[in-house]
Amino acid sequence: MREYLIAGNWKMYGDGTSIAALLEALLSKIKQTSTAPQTVVFPPFPYLSLVAERLRGSPLTWGAQNLCQADPEGAFTGEVSASMLKEFGCRFVLIGHSERRVVYQERDALIAQKLKTALAAQLQPILCIGETLAEREDGLTWSVLKKQLATLESLQDNQSALTNLIIAYEPVWAIGTGRSATPEQAQEVHAQIRDTVRFYAPSIADRLRVLYGGSVKAENAAELLAMPDIDGALVGGASLKAEQFIEIINACNN
Ligand code: PGA
Repeated sequence: MREYLIAGNWKMYGDGTSIAALLEALLSKIKQTSTAPQTVVFPPFPYLSLVAERLRGSPLTWGAQNLCQADPEGAFTGEVSASMLKEFGCRFVLIGHSERRVVYQERDALIAQKLKTALAAQLQPILCIGETLAEREDGLTWSVLKKQLATLESLQDNQSALTNLIIAYEPVWAIGTGRSATPEQAQEVHAQIRDTVRFYAPSIADRLRVLYGGSVKAENAAELLAMPDIDGALVGGASLKAEQFIEIINACNN
């Protein structure tokens, strides 16, 4: 059995006041039951210490939205290392989000290095992959995803580190658009992702958690999470509203 993981990507939203209020609201509403899914939030870097201070000892965990490929330190202006993230209690890190790929031109080679660094530091990387609308319409969905998954090739000789890997399928056309993939569309891709990972890392494929991301909301979470290969959600906009995020977390139990 794979444990559900619900992840909230706060992107570059919030300030000290609103983030403190969001944390309070989440902590007051979250249920500490044995069936509750694992839940993680990804605040912007400057708020990691605030989040760590408030969430330590709670059922919520936290992580970072990005990391530097080099570790533990060096001349990398503007970057943050895995060791630094660990010092702030991060257990997870997002890698290769489509906004990093598109806006900051992150390529698969760099993403592979970041994955390696995260795994070596015993962080749990959430590798984000997804196709654009044009690619889907041109029938290229699977070839794009296969290429993005090929970043796992360089990690093949370290199957034990790969047990910490998580993948998020986020079709770019569904991110922030209000237009989610249908549960059937997502399920089809998730099953293919698992099969591909079986090729690179046979020992982890059945345990691998594949999250869906892209306009997940309280209204569509339960039907997406009911699919056999959807093991959780990576939530953007709706994770900034405590009520909505809690409803998504609770949808894992329905
Ligand atoms: P969204 O974002 O839920 O606002 O579509 C998801 C993401 O970018 O991770």
